[in-house]
Amino acid sequence: MGEAKKLYIKTYGCQMNVYDSERMAEALGGNGYVEVGSPEEADMILLNTCHIREKAAEKVYSELGRFKSLKADKPDLKIGVAGCVAQAEGAEIIARQPMVDLVVGPQSYHRLPEMERQAGAGKVIDTDFPEEDKFARLKGRAKAKRGPTAFLTVQEGCDKFCAFCVVPYTRGAEVSRPAARILDEARELVDRGVREITLLGQNVNAYHGAGPDGGDWSLAKLIWALDGIDGLERIRFTTSHPNDMGEDLIEAHGTCAKLMPYLHLPVQSGSDRILKRMNRRHTAESYLRLIERIRAARPDIVLSGDFIVGFPEETEEDFAATLALIEAVRYGSAFSFKYSPRPGTPAAERAQVDPAEADNRLQRLQALITRQQREVQDAMVGRTVGVLFEKPGRMPGQMVGKSDHLHSVFVSAPDLAPGDLRQVRIESSAPNSLAGVLA
Ligand code: SAH
Ligand code: SF4
Ligand code: F3S
Repeated sequence: MGEAKKLYIKTYGCQMNVYDSERMAEALGGNGYVEVGSPEEADMILLNTCHIREKAAEKVYSELGRFKSLKADKPDLKIGVAGCVAQAEGAEIIARQPMVDLVVGPQSYHRLPEMERQAGAGKVIDTDFPEEDKFARLKGRAKAKRGPTAFLTVQEGCDKFCAFCVVPYTRGAEVSRPAARILDEARELVDRGVREITLLGQNVNAYHGAGPDGGDWSLAKLIWALDGIDGLERIRFTTSHPNDMGEDLIEAHGTCAKLMPYLHLPVQSGSDRILKRMNRRHTAESYLRLIERIRAARPDIVLSGDFIVGFPEETEEDFAATLALIEAVRYGSAFSFKYSPRPGTPAAERAQVDPAEADNRLQRLQALITRQQREVQDAMVGRTVGVLFEKPGRMPGQMVGKSDHLHSVFVSAPDLAPGDLRQVRIESSAPNSLAGVLA
């Protein structure tokens, strides 16, 4: 064996891309690659891209431009584009940036090692949607120990076709992985030091994988099976769709101790007129009623959401309805975006809102969210909550971790190690974190 080759991966977009990047790095480990932290030292550069908004997609090309001189200095350097831009644009990427050697869509990652071997001799592109479970074939190298938290993709793709969204096109139809494979992977992660697993899916609560006992398993059933794994202390899941929030999943928030009291439940808008045009298939009222049921099961749950402002035809009145919904929910955090017209989606063809007006709405919405976020966080002061410690803080003897409710918590505790889970009494709240003492 020669010297190890060096791989630099840069990841954009959602947590599923983070998970995919880990799996791709493992798979390329089989081709003799080790991961490095900078593109300058790499023998292969892989961009794992996101197509959700125009800005995200365009970033790929500016990033590629920066690699031009690297490729000039090192002609053997292989440059690959993976992820949702790869899926959406395919060969177009190589037409725009001929130095790209390899384009691989999210459903073809099991072919990456073979594609890497071919790259260099010519361009290789794969954006097929094969039938098989790519993860089953994406076998890694020897498993290294790892940090206390991990993502685990359980479901991929989306059949919902919201009028603004590219995901159903870039990730394909909804597919759930079989429960037994997920449980095996979870056990392996726990053996490698993981204490908290976040189950991922574009519509994770629509999970309906084959159970080991035959029949479909719901996400709640999968969570209860994970609950039985010794050494796994915490379970989270993201992202959910309001229409797939089953009774058993709501109930689990009240009864499953390992399921953490935090839920990301995007609603996008508070105006029924806009929700209808977005093809969301729920109303503001049905969303609020759902939140009530979830809070009845777990009163202290922290909620987060996603919002789009400036969707085509959104009026000031529609926007006011969104602010009213936010007031009614009291979010612990939220992501908000200015609508970005995406090629091939129905909403891109419609009359667009004035960009300055959309900017103004985004600012007002974010001001409200920031205030709520702070209120929800401040309300933790005086409470005792679980904290999973992840790394040392900036001050000597300080450790940082995430609370059950996903707040960052600082504690002065020199004897703690990453992976320790402790009860912490929260004493103060700063703009983006809490501080406390071991209880
Ligand atoms: N599957 C998830 C999230 C998908 S993308 C869900 O259904 O919630 C993450 C977020 O990006 C979306 O919730 C939405 O708020 C935002 N988004 C998607 N397409 C967008 C677009 N064209 N313009 C602006 N924001 C968009
Ligand atoms: Fe996109 Fe809607 Fe599917 Fe979420 S549910 S991935 S927003 S189409
Ligand atoms: Fe982006 Fe694809 Fe995720 S478009 S948000 S990387 S599913």
